Amino acid sequence: MAHNDLEAFLSERRHFAPSDDFVAQANAQADIYDVAGRDPRSWWAQQARRLTWDVEPTQDLVWTPPFATWFEDGRLNASVNCVDRHVAAGHGDRVAFHWVGEPEGDTLSITYRDLLVRVSQAAHALSELGVRAGDRVAIYMPMIPEAVTAMLACARLGAAHSVIFGGFASDAIADRVQDAECTFVITADGGYRRGSASGLKVHVDAALERCPGVRGVLVVRRTGQEVSWTEGRDHWWHEVVDRQPHEHTPESFPAEQPLFLMYTSGTTARPKGILHTTAGYLTHAATTHFYVFDVKPETDVCWTSADIGWITGHSYIVYGPLANGVTQVIYEGTPDAGGKDRWWRIVEEYKVTILYTAPTAIRTFMKWGAEFPAAHDLSSLRLLGSVGEPINPEAWMWYREFIGGNRCPIVDTWWQTETGGIMVTPLPGVTTTKPGAAMRPFPGISVDVVDNDGASVGNGEGGYLTLTQPWPGMTRGIWGDPERFAETYWSRFPGVYFAGDGAKRDEDGDLWLLGRVDDVMNISGHRLSTTEVEHALVGHDGVAEAAVVGASDDTTGQAIVAFVTLTVAAAESGASHAEIIEDLRAHVATVISPIAKPRQIVITPDLPKTRSGKIMRRLLRDVAEHRALGDVTTLTDPSIVSVIDGLMGQHAADDE
Ligand code: PRX
Repeated sequence: MAHNDLEAFLSERRHFAPSDDFVAQANAQADIYDVAGRDPRSWWAQQARRLTWDVEPTQDLVWTPPFATWFEDGRLNASVNCVDRHVAAGHGDRVAFHWVGEPEGDTLSITYRDLLVRVSQAAHALSELGVRAGDRVAIYMPMIPEAVTAMLACARLGAAHSVIFGGFASDAIADRVQDAECTFVITADGGYRRGSASGLKVHVDAALERCPGVRGVLVVRRTGQEVSWTEGRDHWWHEVVDRQPHEHTPESFPAEQPLFLMYTSGTTARPKGILHTTAGYLTHAATTHFYVFDVKPETDVCWTSADIGWITGHSYIVYGPLANGVTQVIYEGTPDAGGKDRWWRIVEEYKVTILYTAPTAIRTFMKWGAEFPAAHDLSSLRLLGSVGEPINPEAWMWYREFIGGNRCPIVDTWWQTETGGIMVTPLPGVTTTKPGAAMRPFPGISVDVVDNDGASVGNGEGGYLTLTQPWPGMTRGIWGDPERFAETYWSRFPGVYFAGDGAKRDEDGDLWLLGRVDDVMNISGHRLSTTEVEHALVGHDGVAEAAVVGASDDTTGQAIVAFVTLTVAAAESGASHAEIIEDLRAHVATVISPIAKPRQIVITPDLPKTRSGKIMRRLLRDVAEHRALGDVTTLTDPSIVSVIDGLMGQHAADDE
């Protein structure tokens, strides 16, 4: 759709009401908002009955701002809720996962009964290797079935897992392992991405040189590549797990037993370990999965395209869908491995009914062209979801037309690592949707959009998104740093949770998410902080100072643009700027991850600073986005901005 058509389309205020068919069979009924809104705590307590408890809770919320507990006196086991109870209910033959490896033909379908055996064996193995309730276990794995098994086996033992995205480099692994004081790591020799095998254990080996607290490493053989081996510490999964008994008696744990840590970027250089506990999180994940995706466990095939290394994979591949006993597809690789129609072949082959992905992926498919999905039968799809970044109306419409056949409702879901589960979303069968809008708080969730002073804005106005009441999936804090938790989320607007996002209420009062308003960037749905990348850049010998901004990008939402000044030694080294830039990009990939490589690095004689020495990132963002420059009069050297503007054009680097 051309831009003008889109404007015209939006100005028509065309909305998409749910079809009669959908309304008739939807899990959510029209009165759900009223029922939940009248007494949210009781409503959530009722939702907690979806879970199987060893001891039913009598409490719901205990709120000691900013710390909450939910269902505190209940006891349960998360892995029993995700696996055992479905087998016990007679659904052992239902497929839990159709796993699709990146190499063609490398597939495996695992039933809930199979999964129970796998999780039981892995739990025995971890116990034998010394993992105990209350420990932290790092998981650094490709998208293979053992990754899910590993998470559930930790949960079964009451050990918290900390999954580290497989794209992170060894320094990033070491930081996370050390911060959480992990005593055990589960990894693989490598994984398949972009058509070839890459190494994973090699990064763990390098990281663990800095982590003396790690006593054991369990290694899945995925690619068969050579790996180095530390006797006494390293164990092959197939040697230790496969010989274990098939049955494992689960223990029950308190509702607030830590379930996992997920490290995420904030506005500082140091990622935060976001803590989630068991019962509230599981209630939130299962309830939102049930209503937002309208799942029918007997017939649906869900595919969440996220990596399990991120919160979306935790809540909507592992805990929500498995708690609800649905069948899923998990795909290991990149979208164009084996052809640009790889996803659509998977949808056709497994008759996927519910697809949940990110706007970046949708925009990439748009760029590749509608002929790739059109070549396949996508008629099994009945619902589409979007997450991770604001979805532009054009991408929303393309998704609706070319993937959803103008038939599938689209749910644009806003949430965060910290919220545990979906917070703002349409409900299929209830909500009339608008292209690009996340619409309404989920039932039982309270949201406000406020101005600078914390006052609610009216319809038609923008401001900051806040969450005004505690909810079950809410993070229980930052690992080891309760003060930072209070300071980061609860101090900007006292008494309410500040998400870091801008939002608008339209004339009808519906919500539109506008992106981050802090120094957090969103690159292809990956969350990175400007300071983290700056820190990596100034860690390079050749860099004196660095300033990083997120500039808007047609495909990736935002892209990283870095401005650096060189040390005298680097400037006089004789290396060309192009060589230095390549070196710096490679350096960032090694220190953080290839996803953190700047799209563009500009080498400049100076950075724009105020008289008090503060770098004016706002001006750099204007430069990076080719906007008219704002007020430069407070700078020590106002002319530097136009110098940088001129340099921008010279140093364009290829995006990866
Ligand atoms: O800026 C928002 C954006 O992603 C941030 C959270 O990132 P993360 O913790 O990595 O979790 C991503 C997956 C839940 C938010 O602060 N974001 C997420 N979903 C949306 C979104 N922005 C706009 N619309 C969304 N649907």
